[in-house]
Amino acid sequence: MPDNFKDHITVDPDIYALTNAYELDDNQSETTSLASSIYRGVMENGRRYQTIREGEYWGPSDEQQFEALEAGHLVALVMDSESRNPLFQAPVKDPKRILDIGTGRGSWAVDAADMFPNLDDVLQEWTWREPFDFIHMRLMLGAFSAQEWDNVYKQCYDNLTPGGWFEQHEGGCDLLSDDGSLPEESILTQWGKNICAAASNAGKPVDTLDTMRTEIEKAGFVDVHEKVYKWPIGPWPRDSVLKEAGRLSYHMWRTGMEGWAMYLLTKYGVPEPWSKEEVQVYVAKARNDIQNPNYHIYHKARRIWARKPTEAEMAAKAADKAREVAEQTTRIKDEPLSPPFSPSDRW
Ligand SMILES: C[S@@+](CC[C@H](N)C(=O)[O-])C[C@H]1O[C@@H](n2cnc3c(N)ncnc32)[C@H](O)[C@@H]1O
Repeated sequence: MPDNFKDHITVDPDIYALTNAYELDDNQSETTSLASSIYRGVMENGRRYQTIREGEYWGPSDEQQFEALEAGHLVALVMDSESRNPLFQAPVKDPKRILDIGTGRGSWAVDAADMFPNLDDVLQEWTWREPFDFIHMRLMLGAFSAQEWDNVYKQCYDNLTPGGWFEQHEGGCDLLSDDGSLPEESILTQWGKNICAAASNAGKPVDTLDTMRTEIEKAGFVDVHEKVYKWPIGPWPRDSVLKEAGRLSYHMWRTGMEGWAMYLLTKYGVPEPWSKEEVQVYVAKARNDIQNPNYHIYHKARRIWARKPTEAEMAAKAADKAREVAEQTTRIKDEPLSPPFSPSDRW
């Protein structure tokens, strides 16, 4: 499997001959049923939305969207199936306390730590008393405004033990192809732009995978690492791992597209909000195009993992700062208060 983002994914030449290559087998679709009745929520345009707080979050919280999330969870695992730990990359050893922010269906949390899903609103003041060893978040794009992201990263930093790890895994909305196989006229070329424009209009941009590194560094994290992925959509790659990831991510897109588009486009569509019917027709056309084996499409994903400085590092940094301030003070004391002037300047 190519692990360099620049590598092109090789196409499987047999893909055009298979009739049901895009479908999941029975085993895989069994992973998708979940009763959503335990969730409080509001219905809108035929979809259920969670009422976490008075602000807004674009993602539906219903069976269809959980199916997409579960498929996304499996794609993430498959994409890292050859790595030491497909769940996360941060070198966390024997963590006692893990927090998964915005856990959704909770698949990651259940797999990672057998913890209960946590649906506390992370924009409220955090009430956990004990710090965490590891804080994880995935697919939180479009959940927060820039200022809210600042606050979330600060809370993550403040609520980690010194030396504890933070990891964020995000996906992009743009559908791309390296070999020009996605034609300009395909409805898919505009998909990411439409979603991005609506999300920016809503004040909660979805380009998180491109902005998060700077924000994480700004929050004070050190030892920052990243891994960039191409998540193929459809089983078109020749490589068996990418083929499996592609089949799952096709399923994620098929089930997820309406939920990603409905809220944002009907409320914040650019130049004007779309009607429910317009979104439904658009999604139907886009769904049709993502199962075209001639389109060798993928979207980007990125993981960033970074560490809160250890106590020794923090102490060393504080000492450096104190030394710098002391040096500056000495320099100011030694410098003459006004520039020296020669006697001739007086006359
Ligand atoms: C796209 S889902 C991702 C779920 C999960 N992390 C995964 O990768 O499968 C985003 C999740 O963030 C949650 N969320 C959005 N705003 C939130 C907030 N302010 N506080 C806590 N969770 C939030 C939503 O309820 C939803 O479950």
